[in-house]
Parts: sequence; structure tokens; C-alpha cells
Amino acid sequence: MALLLSSWISGAIMGSIMDEVKADVEAQQMRGASDSLFSTIDMILLALIIGGVTWWLLKRNSKKDNSFSNGKSYTIQPTSLTMQNSTDNSFVKKLQSSGRSLVVFYGSQTGTGEEFAGRLAKEGVRYRMKGMVADPEECDMEDLVNLKNIPNSLAVFCMATYGEGDPTDNAMEFYEWLQNGDADLTGLNYAVFGLGNKTYEHYNEVAIYIDKRLEELGATRVYELGLGDDDANIEDDFITWKDKFWPAVCEYFGIESTGEDISIRQYRLEEYEDAPDRVYTGEMARLHSLKNQRPPYDAKNPYLAKITVNRELFTSGDRHCMHIEFDIEDSKMRYDSGDHLAVYPVNNSELVEKIGKLCEKNLDTIFSLINTDEESSKKHPFPCPCSYRTALTHYLDITQNPRTHVLKELAEYCSDPAEKEKLKLMASTSPEGKALYQKWIIEDNRNIVHILEDTPSCKPALDHLCELLPRLQPRYYSISSSPRLHPSTVHATAVVVEYKTPTGRINKGVATTWLREKIPKEDQAALTVPIFIRKSQFRLPTKPQTPIIMIGPGTGVAPFRGFIQERFSSKEDGKQVGQTVLYFGCRKKTEDYIYQAEFEKYENNGLLTLKLAFSRDQPQKVYVTHLLEKDADLIWNIFENNGHLYICGDAKSMAVDVRNVILRIIQEKGNMTEEQAQAYYKKMETQKRISMDVWS
Ligand SMILES: Cc1cc2nc3c(=O)[nH]c(=O)nc-3n(C[C@H](O)[C@H](O)[C@H](O)COP(=O)(O)OP(=O)(O)OC[C@H]3O[C@@H](n4cnc5c(N)ncnc54)[C@H](O)[C@@H]3O)c2cc1C
Ligand SMILES: Cc1cc2nc3c(=O)[nH]c(=O)nc-3n(C[C@H](O)[C@H](O)[C@H](O)COP(=O)(O)O)c2cc1C
Repeated sequence: MALLLSSWISGAIMGSIMDEVKADVEAQQMRGASDSLFSTIDMILLALIIGGVTWWLLKRNSKKDNSFSNGKSYTIQPTSLTMQNSTDNSFVKKLQSSGRSLVVFYGSQTGTGEEFAGRLAKEGVRYRMKGMVADPEECDMEDLVNLKNIPNSLAVFCMATYGEGDPTDNAMEFYEWLQNGDADLTGLNYAVFGLGNKTYEHYNEVAIYIDKRLEELGATRVYELGLGDDDANIEDDFITWKDKFWPAVCEYFGIESTGEDISIRQYRLEEYEDAPDRVYTGEMARLHSLKNQRPPYDAKNPYLAKITVNRELFTSGDRHCMHIEFDIEDSKMRYDSGDHLAVYPVNNSELVEKIGKLCEKNLDTIFSLINTDEESSKKHPFPCPCSYRTALTHYLDITQNPRTHVLKELAEYCSDPAEKEKLKLMASTSPEGKALYQKWIIEDNRNIVHILEDTPSCKPALDHLCELLPRLQPRYYSISSSPRLHPSTVHATAVVVEYKTPTGRINKGVATTWLREKIPKEDQAALTVPIFIRKSQFRLPTKPQTPIIMIGPGTGVAPFRGFIQERFSSKEDGKQVGQTVLYFGCRKKTEDYIYQAEFEKYENNGLLTLKLAFSRDQPQKVYVTHLLEKDADLIWNIFENNGHLYICGDAKSMAVDVRNVILRIIQEKGNMTEEQAQAYYKKMETQKRISMDVWS
């Protein structure tokens, strides 16, 4: 749409310029030969203007439509509210004018990288390096060549990896600049910390590349690359890296630490006795955007969709799986099979009220948190002013395990010295502190409410807590419908998260618990949910006759329901549809075999070949991987007939196991060595014949 719009605009502008050129040429022809010198200059000037406008428009388009133009897509979108300061993107000027020498860039989709960057920038003061956090998307990154003009300056990069080793949306342009450019970065001092997850094939590839590339371009690595693994304990990885990073920085620049370990607030509090006119109540950006809905809808402007269907898919057992249909008829939103639906959930009101009580604060108070750093493009941590209740309900994550810096700040609010020491210990990098954090926070799965309950003398200022807690993120669901069969509804298939923690508490998933209660009833008002659609690259082959294999145990089957509907629709249209094989697995046929009737209908209709693994229906466990091993000939045959393979669901074990089985099949059936099989697999990935849509 953006591309279409800008090509329309560029067409319109070019059209009017061309009209002017035409008129100019005609006028010059009438004026005669004596004017010929002017006409040439005019033409050159006009050509320059046209060239300039075209270049500007193309550059603008390429920035806006990045994820489409380069064929990459990102499943998660950053949601933090940052105000663009488009007039001056020179971060070097900003550093100079505010007497700073440290800039910490972040590449982040769900906020962790941004949070780490903020912590590093804040800590700089302790080492006589006043710092600034910067979003590469808002900066002119070519300015890196000028950073050396600030004495003892340092650039740090906290960069997350997504998809197939891709950068985050906000780091895309910088990444491409590094890849394609050849700037001389001699004199630039830098360090990189990567955020990734070892269960993904392309572990931390972005950070690894940036660290290497900056050195190639002449920059000086001040401290070695740090890699954080979100599958284990990324907080531990970060603080361990940070603990050695700062001494290395001090040694490199010959600085002595001030030794001060003072807490510095990033935001100043303003509370209102009389409610101001403009108060946010859960909007992501524009005030009243949820009441006065205006397309286009996206992460900052979600569509309030009506839930038309919400039914249970499991037939027995104590677990639950929802099939939900969202009405998008009036939204002008379009989707394709394989896209993701994003849902903005709200936190459980009991937990919110508990925080109010534990902090002894009236949750109706309207407040604003205002950045004390006037140079920062982020004026507030979330839309302000709002009530504490709104902040805790819509904007802040109150169920995640808090990170160590939060514990450190909480310690200051403890009146009991033993509780204070305990929190401080967990925030430290000592082996006992790390072990206690791992046990008391991670393994016992304590969120902020549990921590406040279990350290009763801790009474933090609620506004400080609001500054410290991370932003509540949207939840993503692989769309389980096809627009060809369901153009006005989007379907999602979601398992309800609920589990008991070692402290005996019941933890409930934020989004799934909230959605579970949204069951539409005819005589009641419509139930609505803020959503947006995120484009993906998880796509069926363009030709329906291409054979496909889909591997999707559990809710991993979600996008394949859409794929099957799509191929069914092609068949109904009289098109030839290739072999369509689905590998599905669950615990028991009579318990959690979702969409059984639908899949059997397609099987009976001759469209679908079903391969089912019910792990608990016989004494020995049977998983989809066992079925794949048995079907080596079928799989190899489909590969050799230009077929496509799709894997969806659990990233942690299923996707890795499936990949290994497929590699073994390629090796065996193709008479290849292990390396040759890997190259064959890689080639299929590059050709988009093997695609994954996995999460952990
Ligand atoms: C691209 C993508 C596509 C996705 N598609 C789907 C889909 O189609 N269907 C689907 O159901 N989900 C899907 N998910 C996952 C989904 O986005 C949510 O993460 C999920 O629904 C849980 O959200 P929640 O808010 O209810 O739980 P949260 O409040 O976010 O809690 C979930 C967290 O609780 C913890 N947890 C969960 N169970 C346990 C346990 N037993 N013991 C200890 N800790 C536990 C884990 O840390 C987990 O991350 C997808 C995710 C991504 C990234
Ligand atoms: C859908 C998805 C895809 C991911 N892909 C990768 C990957 O390819 N390689 C990797 O190392 N980490 C991957 N990760 C892990 C993230 O990089 C990691 O969780 C990181 O901490 C996120 O940082 P952020 O919160 O700043 O965005 C992925 C995470 C998700 C949810």
C-alpha cells in the first residue's frame, strides 16, 4: 500500500514536473534560437530536479517498504512509543551539545535490546562517560565516521537477531549500510552485545556480523563481543559481559571509575490533582484511537476487532485450546495464509489491584513520567498522562520475571535489612547472587507481585516501578484461516497457558487467559480486541500443483489449516492441486486432536494426506519425527519433484529434531555426505522451498 501510494505520489509529482518541462520546452521553441543557451541550462536544471526528486522518493520508499523490497520479513514488531525528531538526525551533534561521549544503539523488536542499551547508557556516568541511548532508525548512522571527533568516545551496539539471521526492523537500514558501504571507520571505538536464542539455527548472527564488519571497516573493538542466549538466562549473560566490559573500557581510555553506584531516575514524575483533558486509557499512540478508529491499522494503531467465534478445540483433559474468529470486515485489513495476527492483551485486574495495595498507592491517580534527558527522542516510557491502573493494565509487563536491575532498585525500598540484602545479592554478579537469582526468581517463577508479597518490607514508589518494568508486548498467532474462504474474518488457534509454580502459585498466560473469557453471546454487547496483522514470508508455492509437506504438531498446525483451505479453494476452482501432506501430532486422539473433522473431510475429498502421531495412545511414545523417518521415500520423492517443506510450532525441540531427521533422509536417499545433505537443505531454504514458522 505504502509502495502503491508513494508510486502514485511520485507519479503525480513527476507528471506535474513533466508538464512543466513540456510547457517550458514549447515556450522556448516559440522564443527562438537566440534563447537556446537558456533552454539548455533550464533542461539541465530540470533534469537535476527530476533526478533529485526521484532519488528522494525511491530512498523514502525503500525505507518504508524495506521488509518487502528485500524479501525479508520479521515476525515481531517493536511497540515502544518513540517520537521521531526528523529535523536533526546527527547523534554526534547531540552528544557534543550535551557533553556526552557514549552512545548505545539498539536493534530490538520486543524491547530487551532497548532495555539493555538503556542500562548501559545510564551506567556510563559511573565511569565518567555520560551516555545516550539511540535508535539506529532515527539516526544518520553515517555519522559514525564523525564520532572520533569526540575525545574518548564509544559506540555500543545491543543487537537482536530474528528469523533467518535477520536484523530487527529498526536496525535494517544500518545493517544494509554496513553490508553495502565501505565507510572508513578508523578511530571509532566500539563494542557489541548480541541478543539471540540458541534454539534458533542462526544464533546471534546479526551481532556476530556487526562486530566483525565494524572491525573490517577500521573501527577498534574495545571489548569482546558478548552473546546473550534467551533460551537460558540472557540477563545473566548480559550482566556477566557488562561486569568485564566496564573495566575494559576504563583501561582502554585510562579512566578511573567514580566508584559511585547511585540510582539515577531516567524520568521525572508529574502527578495531577485535577485530571488533564488528554488522558490515555490504553491507546498505543494516538489519543482516543480505540474510540475513533481510522485506518490504516498497524502496531501503533491497532484495529478493535469483534470476536465472532471463540470455541474450545480440545475434547477432553484439563488443558484448553481456543479457536477464535476476529471480524475484520470494516477494517480494510487484508491478510494472506501464513501471516501472523498480533493481539494486544491486558493484564489481569487482580494482579493490577494487588500491586496498588502492595505499593500503597491509589491507582486512579493520573500521572506522567517525563524523560529528564531532553535530547532523547523518547519523551515518555509509555503514553502519558494516564492513570496508574491504565499503565499497569495496558502498558507494563507485570508477569515476566524481573531483571536484576529492577531488584537492585527495589532493594532501596526495603525497611527490613535482611530483605534488602537478599535483593541486593540477587542483583549482584557474585556466584551466590547469580545462583539465588536463578533459584528464587527464574526457577520459582516469581513476577513483581510475588516478589513484593514475599518481601513485605519492600514498598517501592509506584512511579519508580512503572519506570522499571518493561513494556507489555503484543502476542502473535499464526493465522489459521485462508482469506479465500474467510475474507472478512481472521482465525487464530491458541493454547491457554496456565501452570503451577514451585511456590504453589498458579501463573496464567496474559493473553490466552484474557481471550478465554471473551466468549461472544448473542444478547450481549460485542467483545472486542485490539489487533493488527503482520506480514510474513511463510507462503504456499505460487503454483497449486507444487507438492507440499507440512509438519505442525500441536498448535503448529495453525497456519496449515489456512494452507489446506487455500488449496481446497484452488481445487474447487478447477485447478490441479499437487500432493498435500500434513504431519500432525498430539497426545491423544480423543483429547487434543484439533480440527479432526475438518482435516478428515479434506482427506476424504482427496485433497489431503494425513499422517498422525498420538504420542500417548500406545505404550511407546510416537512423535511426528518417527513418522517422517518411516516416510523417507515419500519425502525424498516430493523434494525431487520440486516440492516444498513447511515446519511450524515449537522452536525448542520439535523444529531441531525435524530438521535433523530431514537431513538424515536427504543424506540417505540422495546418497550424500553429511556436508552435501546440509548444502542441499540450505539450497532449499534459499529457494524458499523449506520454510519455518517457529516460536519458543
Ligand atoms: C511468530 C509466533 C507465532 C505464534 N503462533 C502461535 C499460535 O498459532 N498458537 C499459540 O497458541 N501460540 C502461538 N505463539 C505463542 C503466543 O504468541 C504466546 O506466546 C502464547 O499464546 C502465550 O501468551 P500468553 O500471554 O497467554 O502467556 P504469557 O503471559 O506470555 O506466558 C507465557 C510464558 O509463561 C512461561 N510458561 C508457560 N508455560 C510454562 C510452564 N509450564 N512452566 C513454566 N513457565 C511456563 C513461559 O516463559 C512463557 O513464555 C506464537 C508466537 C510467535 C512468536
Ligand atoms: C519469532 C522469533 C524469531 C527469532 N529468531 C532468532 C534467530 O534467528 N536467531 C537468534 O539468535 N535468536 C532469535 N530469536 C530470539 C531473539 O533474538 C531474543 O529473544 C532476543 O532477546 C529478542 O530481543 P528483543 O526483545 O530486543 O527484540 C527469535 C525470537 C523470536 C520470538
